Amino acid sequence: MLLNDINSVRFEINKWRKEGATIGLVPTMGALHAGHLSLIQKAKEICDKVVVSVFVNPIQFGPSEDFDKYPRTLDADRILCEREGVDIIFAPSADEMYGEGQRLSNDTLTYVCPPFFYVNTLCGKSRPGHFDGVCTVVMKLFNIVQPDKAFFGQKDAQQVIIIKKMVKDLNVPIEIIQCPIVREESGLALSSRNKYLTEDGKKDALVLSKIINNIKSCYKKGITDVSALKETAYSFLTDKHDLEYLEFVDKATLDNKREADDDTLVLIACRVEGVRLIDNIYIGD
Ligand code: PAJ
Repeated sequence: MLLNDINSVRFEINKWRKEGATIGLVPTMGALHAGHLSLIQKAKEICDKVVVSVFVNPIQFGPSEDFDKYPRTLDADRILCEREGVDIIFAPSADEMYGEGQRLSNDTLTYVCPPFFYVNTLCGKSRPGHFDGVCTVVMKLFNIVQPDKAFFGQKDAQQVIIIKKMVKDLNVPIEIIQCPIVREESGLALSSRNKYLTEDGKKDALVLSKIINNIKSCYKKGITDVSALKETAYSFLTDKHDLEYLEFVDKATLDNKREADDDTLVLIACRVEGVRLIDNIYIGD
């Protein structure tokens, strides 16, 4: 069932609650691919009812980012969701989510702002305000749907760490389920933004997964010095790659590591054909 308004969603959810059903929420921005579907499948497996939200959230995009050109494919998304047995697809307008005529700025709108340390590192450095926008919309979706469990991908590792932190700090009674990264056979992590790449660009984009896999295998061979591990990455880069960051952090706290260990998460962000791509790996696994 496709619903666009909050009241109708609440109406359906209340019925489910009375039946004692457990509810899973999968928040997305649409343009669904197998990565999203893996979250939906996990939700279907462990919850009685599943809600997928499809909302390109304006407040998590910077002024020079791709909000306008972000792929919007609701008809196809709906077919995919129905095939997976999703109970509600919630696809609100910005007016429905934020109120008609509401100016989308923290001068006039209540935001959920995760801690400075978490949002001003890694992706947050080049995307100021991004994680405030993400946490605000996710908290709104949590309040609208009031799910028992919510599903997020490791693909956006910093995002899921920040959401777990928000849930803990604000005592949100929802379990966050983190799902593994789904990749193409080539190793490229699936992303709605891969649609912006040409065939050559997709080949160049393989550098992200190659670098992090190579780091993991060097770590497994006994190299733990982060500078040395970073050094191994540079040989993969060509003039087709604009590396934004390659970082080694603690998988729970995002603290920087100088020596890699089994709790280390390696994250990379790199532009290919002007498209900003991210990837990450737990090297201890
Ligand atoms: P979106 O980019 O559409 O991603 C929705 C969910 O799908 C996120 O939890 C993301 O990590 C997961 N996902 C994307 N690619 C994946 C892949 N290759 N493998 C596994 N999971 C993958 O992330 C957002 O939307 C938004 O920021 C949102 C949380 C919906 C808030 O607006």
